Amino acid sequence: MLDECLMEYWFPVVEQLARHLPVKIPKTTCIVLTEKLYRDVIWQTASEADYLGIGEYINSTRIKAGIGLPFFLRTGLSSGKHDWVDTCYITSSENDFIAQRVFNLYESDMMKIGVFMSNHLFIREFIPMNYAFKAFNKMPIAREFRIFSDNGVLTHIQPYWIPDSIVRADKENWKELLKAQHQIEKYEKEMLVKTASRITRKLKGHWSVDFCEAETGEWCLIDMALADVSFKWNPDEFDWDFVSEDEKRTEMEKDLKALLD
Ligand SMILES: Nc1ncnc2c1ncn2[C@@H]1O[C@H](COP(=O)(O)OP(=O)(O)O)[C@@H](O)[C@H]1O
Ligand SMILES: [Mg+2]
Repeated sequence: MLDECLMEYWFPVVEQLARHLPVKIPKTTCIVLTEKLYRDVIWQTASEADYLGIGEYINSTRIKAGIGLPFFLRTGLSSGKHDWVDTCYITSSENDFIAQRVFNLYESDMMKIGVFMSNHLFIREFIPMNYAFKAFNKMPIAREFRIFSDNGVLTHIQPYWIPDSIVRADKENWKELLKAQHQIEKYEKEMLVKTASRITRKLKGHWSVDFCEAETGEWCLIDMALADVSFKWNPDEFDWDFVSEDEKRTEMEKDLKALLD
C-alpha cells in the first residue's frame, strides 16, 4: 500500500482540485526511478553513465513540462530543505550537478526514521517566496503557515517555522523578522482554512497542509502530511525569550576563548 504521506499519494488529488482552489499549485512533473536505479541511488552503486543519466532524465522531463531554471526537486518523501543549496534548490542544468543532488536527497531521506521512502522524484517550478532572511544552508525562510484539517474541519493553525528551530540565520534581527512574518490577516487565514478544508474533505482523514506566500503575494500550496506525524506547536504558548542554538554556540565559543586566552 502507498503511504499516504508520500507526495505521489496526495498530490494527484490536489492537482485534480487545483482549478477550484484560490491558491497556486507550483507547476510539477515527476519521474519514477526503475527498481535498479532506485537501488543504485540508495546504495550509491550507480555507474558513471547511469549517474549522469539521472541528471539527463530530469532535465529532459522538466524541459518537456516547461519548467526552467532554477527549479525545485524533492522525493515523494521530502526535500532535504535544511541542506537547500545541496538538495532541493537546483540552479544548474549540468547533469552531474543534478545527479549529485538526487543522491543528497536520498541520503537525507535515509536518515529519517520510521518513514516510507519513495522512488518518485518531483520536479517543480521554483517560485520566489516572500522571505525575510535565510537560514540553515542558505534556505529562504518564507512566510508559511501549516493548517491542520480533519475531514474539512479546522483543528489547528500555526506559523510553519517554530523560532527555536532556526540555525545559521543570515540576519542579526531574524527573531524580529520572524515574529512579524508570523502575523496573519483574517482574510488570509479564512482563505487558507477554506482551501485546506476543501482538500481534506476530498482526501478524507486528518492532515496538515502547508501554504507558502510567494513574492507576488499569491499563496501556494506546498506540502501535505498526515496530522499524526506532522510537527505541531502552539504559537500562543511559545516563549520568545529563548536562547537560540546559534546564541548558545557563540556563548560557548566566547567561554572557550576566555579559557584559552
Ligand atoms: N516550488 C517551490 N518554489 C520555491 N520554494 C519552495 C517550493 N516548494 C517548496 N519550497 C520551499 O521549500 C520548503 C520545503 O519544501 P517541501 O516540499 O515542503 O519539502 P519538505 O517535505 O522537506 O518540507 C517549503 O517549506 C518552502 O519554503
Ligand atoms: Mg514541507
